[in-house]
Amino acid sequence: PDTYTIDDRYHISIGGLPIRQLAQEFGTPLYVLDYETLRHRIRSFQQALQDMNPPGQAFYAGKAFLTKAMAGFLEQQHMGLDVVSGGELYTALEGGMNPSRIIFHGNVKTDEEIRFGLLRGVGYFVVDSLAELEAISRIAKEVDKPAPILLRLTPGIEAHTHAFIQTGQFDSKFGFAMQDGIHEVALQRALTLPYLELKGFHAHIGSQIFDEDPFVHNAQRLMEFMHDALERYHYWPEVVDIGGGFGVQYGPDDDPPQVSRILARVNDAMQRMTPHGYAVPTVFIEPGRAIVAEAGVTIYQVGATKTVPGGKRYAAVDGGMGDNIRPALYQASYTAQVDGKNPEDRALYTIAGRYCESGDILVKDIPLPPIEPGDYVVVFGTGAYNFAMASNYNRVPRPAVVLVYNGQASLWVKRESYEDMAHNDLPWQDPEEGLW
Ligand code: LLP
Repeated sequence: PDTYTIDDRYHISIGGLPIRQLAQEFGTPLYVLDYETLRHRIRSFQQALQDMNPPGQAFYAGKAFLTKAMAGFLEQQHMGLDVVSGGELYTALEGGMNPSRIIFHGNVKTDEEIRFGLLRGVGYFVVDSLAELEAISRIAKEVDKPAPILLRLTPGIEAHTHAFIQTGQFDSKFGFAMQDGIHEVALQRALTLPYLELKGFHAHIGSQIFDEDPFVHNAQRLMEFMHDALERYHYWPEVVDIGGGFGVQYGPDDDPPQVSRILARVNDAMQRMTPHGYAVPTVFIEPGRAIVAEAGVTIYQVGATKTVPGGKRYAAVDGGMGDNIRPALYQASYTAQVDGKNPEDRALYTIAGRYCESGDILVKDIPLPPIEPGDYVVVFGTGAYNFAMASNYNRVPRPAVVLVYNGQASLWVKRESYEDMAHNDLPWQDPEEGLW
């Protein structure tokens, strides 16, 4: 579906609602999620997974964007969920997510988080280290609940993406390297420690990946290891989880891969490489960005404009790195549009944020129509890793999140107030007076 539309007077609408109206009703900055795009994304993943034999399963990566309402929506869509912390697990459960469809990830899980996951009955723990194997085994015994686990392996695949979001290379901080026998030690421990039920293997190679091949190589690499495991330990897994990382289109230069083709190729490889007499493992995937990024936009209001010596034009808006850290952190690029202005009549603008950092630039040198204070600027593709990574830097409250559909808006997250922000602050007490 078209996430947004523009009318003959250049007014932009999303989900059938003019952004001007959304801005006036909910304030700015405002995160807006388009229901139809979300649903369409989920359905196309589900379709591609259904076409596999056996059918695959999707576990949406909650780190991209998770709120109680999102969890409720995922539950309604029969999606699985990947969480990486007690906080994400809590949010998911509060939102009505069925724990059996939750995968608990993360390279550090505290004892408390492991206990929480076990007691609530999460579907799988993805285990990242030997220490975690021991801890899960110990706590599972304490609470007398066997823990279904996947081992996170690092297959040595370098996908072409930003170094900060690469994870598949051998020297990664994540998982057991498939090198020097490290993964074999892990497998041995996983098969021998009590209260662990090894269901299979996991490997995630990175994020915002455009090529198909790394995904297929990843599955092949895992299958090769599984042959060794079968030979040596007579172990054959039920599950092969190839992670997330499917790229999305942030701008005209981005060429996202076709997930249905990737999954068909992965399925072929799995069929081909499964030994006679054994079941083809179920493929799990963990898409985050590919589900939410393009469903989201952020609406800002312009506070000031200026042309600096040399001719560069700035438009400064009422949000920035507090609600979207990605340009500052990864040089991520976004596209933007000004509401109600003829886009043909353009000059180069830099959209700056309101935060006290020179690096707080949302979009660099983008051709836009003449901008004036009070105008609304829409930044596209902000559904993933924006709200999720938002901060209160400069003590700016975090924006609201609304879902739009068919001319209606429903609030998913209220705008933070100053009181919300300062809620856990305690007043000054003079330490010299020994009051504490
Ligand atoms: N599974 C695992 C084990 C992951 O580590 C990740 C992302 C995903 C799934 C989901 O990846 P996705 O499908 O969303 O690409 N903050 C960065 C992205 C960090 C991704 C970390 N892991 C950004 O804003 O680009």
